[in-house]
Amino acid sequence: MLKVLFVCLGNICRSPSAEAAFIAEVKCQGLTSVIAVDSAGTIGHHAGETADPRTIKHGKQRGLDVASISRKFDPKSDFLTFDYIIAMDDSNIQDLKLLDPTGQYSDKIFKMTDFKLNRHENIVPDPYHGGPEAFELVLDIVQDCSKGLLKHVRHKHKL
Ligand code: 4NP
Repeated sequence: MLKVLFVCLGNICRSPSAEAAFIAEVKCQGLTSVIAVDSAGTIGHHAGETADPRTIKHGKQRGLDVASISRKFDPKSDFLTFDYIIAMDDSNIQDLKLLDPTGQYSDKIFKMTDFKLNRHENIVPDPYHGGPEAFELVLDIVQDCSKGLLKHVRHKHKL
């Protein structure tokens, strides 16, 4: 199994959206038996909670099932378990790098927008204090980048 983990701050808005969008792509391309997907947050404030209701609602409106339960990123196991650790913005990248002080897992750490196809953003912006358009923008970006990520992974791992 190839294992992909999406990471944001709270694991209730952006990384659950990315997880749902990527799972939808993986399903669409018939790869659910070879690619495992999860998400986590660098803070644990919402651990055990479902995604933000706005994330669930906007996802549902475009056919995405945002079903993840928030959890905190665990450096002891997640760096080892996952092949790709995909952050939503530069602050998430910094937080992950602080948890990997020797840099031994730096080759696994990416930013979601590294895989963009038709978007121009360089981060997935935090929608938490924003309106509906902020949640729509997150979905627009993660859906585009999910396609690019799957393309990259399929090519690199010959899936
Ligand atoms: P996320 O959004 O990182 O996309 O899940 C946030 C959710 C919660 C908080 C911040 C950002 N918070 O501070 O509780």
